[in-house]
Amino acid sequence: MANYIPIVTIDGPTCSGKGTISRLLARDLDWNLLDSGALYRILALRAKENSILPDDYESISYLTKGLNARFILDREGECVLLNNQDVTSKIRQEDCGILASKLAQFKEVREALHVIQRSFILPPGLVADGRDMGTIVFPEALIKIFLEANTEVRAVRRHKQLKEKGINVSLPDLSREISERDIADRNRSLSPLKPADGSYYLDSSDLTVSQTLEKVKEFVENII
Ligand code: DC
Repeated sequence: MANYIPIVTIDGPTCSGKGTISRLLARDLDWNLLDSGALYRILALRAKENSILPDDYESISYLTKGLNARFILDREGECVLLNNQDVTSKIRQEDCGILASKLAQFKEVREALHVIQRSFILPPGLVADGRDMGTIVFPEALIKIFLEANTEVRAVRRHKQLKEKGINVSLPDLSREISERDIADRNRSLSPLKPADGSYYLDSSDLTVSQTLEKVKEFVENII
């Protein structure tokens, strides 16, 4: 098929390692990357900067107009560009994540972002990271992966990441926030977080990043 563009989706809860694995996979395959959580975070940032309340979903959906996001992979990781401005550290703040999870519950917001997410299907292939990549946004994906890790492991990973950035948050607070976000993401009526039919399931709680990447590559290499 001349125009066929393969898609790998990696879904999972917050801090499951899907962002890191998606980045490394996209880099190794030399494919495009979609960090869909970053799009929700960008909207949260824009809402915050424009003092728009979380339940004003019409104004928030309007903020998606003219939104031009790109994900650049470099040695340090991922750089998120919004209209050519680096917003990586701003959108990674905990308050943006919490607000993003709230906005993600509105149909209007999800529909507006759906179109933007589909525009990332570009040759030679796409690695898409999120909560509903395999279930809703890219149901046609060639390979769907669901990446999990237990709450304690995820809280410790996040704690380490934040500490490296000089941000001090208590571990019990982080663990509680992660659990609350999980409950919101898994139980919302629209596009809840769940494994897509036919997806590969991988629990990374006891695996290093390179072991997880190896396993994901095994799934991918079996099919591509
Ligand atoms: O992956 P993340 O933590 O950057 O995502 C931030 C929030 O965005 C997450 O709590 C829920 C929402 N989200 C979503 O609803 N659907 C996606 N595909 C990606 C993220």
